[in-house]
Amino acid sequence: MRILRSVVEMQREAERLRLAGRTIGFVPTMGYLHAGHMSLVEHAKSATDVVILSIFVNPTQFGPSEDFAKYPRDFDKDRALAERAGVEILFHPANDEMYGNGFGTYVEEQASSRILEGMIRPGHFRGVTTVVAKLFNICKPHVAVFGQKDVQQAFIVKKMVRDLNLDVSVLVAPIARETDGLAMSSRNVYLTKQERSEAIALFQSLTMAQEKIKMGEQNAVRLRQEMESLIRSKGSPTIDYIAFVDPESFQEIDTVTGSTVLVAVAARYGTTRLIDNVLVEVR
Ligand code: PAJ
Repeated sequence: MRILRSVVEMQREAERLRLAGRTIGFVPTMGYLHAGHMSLVEHAKSATDVVILSIFVNPTQFGPSEDFAKYPRDFDKDRALAERAGVEILFHPANDEMYGNGFGTYVEEQASSRILEGMIRPGHFRGVTTVVAKLFNICKPHVAVFGQKDVQQAFIVKKMVRDLNLDVSVLVAPIARETDGLAMSSRNVYLTKQERSEAIALFQSLTMAQEKIKMGEQNAVRLRQEMESLIRSKGSPTIDYIAFVDPESFQEIDTVTGSTVLVAVAARYGTTRLIDNVLVEVR
């Protein structure tokens, strides 16, 4: 596995691979890799010839009061995991390599970026779309793989690709979970033992909603109340939102009428913010 830190070198290498007729799969990450990230690498491997994984904790997607400085980092462990997974190139640029002096051009999706995560974290998706557009131009992938874990991010990235005619296919891989159901996340290391056990309620509440929807429940207001009670019966997080979303339009709905509905939850246990979701096939 090669480690590249320079934008120009990465671009040259990507170009060389393309000229040699090899298809490039790309997995962008912020590091502190876990089995969820590695499942994206597996998806990329099965779709393309060469996998590039990037590790870059992107400052522009963190709000001023968020955890950019203390976002967990462990490059040596990440390097070993990436190598073992069969990543061919690890792209790991420094901040000033990505955002040089005078940087001032942003990519902003202006509809779906404003609700849910975007409402709670203003400017977050502008940072994500900007860095992902940059990474696409640097790594030149044929296929890029994102996780269903950050379902709104995946939706917005797909939308950016469509809106700006970017020449890349976006794949979305399912959520990797711990054995008790908690969605894997780099941020789970922040949870205290107590918070860790309380946080299982997020997935349990999603599973309960899924079962009720499949049994015919259509009232999202009632479902939200039931999810909230279940979450609060196990702990006392601050719930940022419990949302029912049409996965085609990413609009919130009050009544489940379509054939699929996305149920998404975001909650803060102490200082740790967790998100999770399920995509329910209604029938
Ligand atoms: P990061 O949080 O490191 O996640 C990188 C990718 O891994 C994202 O596509 C995310 O959805 C996916 N992922 C995280 N946990 C997962 C899980 N449990 N199961 C499946 N996939 C999972 O998302 C980002 O970084 C950044 O916003 C980034 C896209 C790299 C731009 O900076």
